[in-house]
Amino acid sequence: MTEASAKNLLALCLDTMETEQIHIRVNGRPVTVAAGTLLAVAIAQAGETSFRHSVRNESRGPLCGMGVCNECRVTVNGQLHIRSCLTPCEEGMDVRTQ
Ligand code: FES
Repeated sequence: MTEASAKNLLALCLDTMETEQIHIRVNGRPVTVAAGTLLAVAIAQAGETSFRHSVRNESRGPLCGMGVCNECRVTVNGQLHIRSCLTPCEEGMDVRTQ
């Protein structure tokens, strides 16, 4: 890839991120984020600090940010144990912390 084409690709990505908005719900609360935003970011933007609870009922949240620790798991559209640090937001998602 040439430098010019890389710059064009970057500009296209930035334009998309700036113009396209995704609407989801986090624990019933509406959240609007830029397209491409990861669920973990959207959940934090919604003000949630506890993504799930351990077996000892301790609050947990994202730790590694790369899909290894499983501390960021949430329920998405009824599907349990979705790693929010790896999952991009999609229009209309219903996200529940666990
Ligand atoms: S933050 Fe570790 S798996 Fe998501």
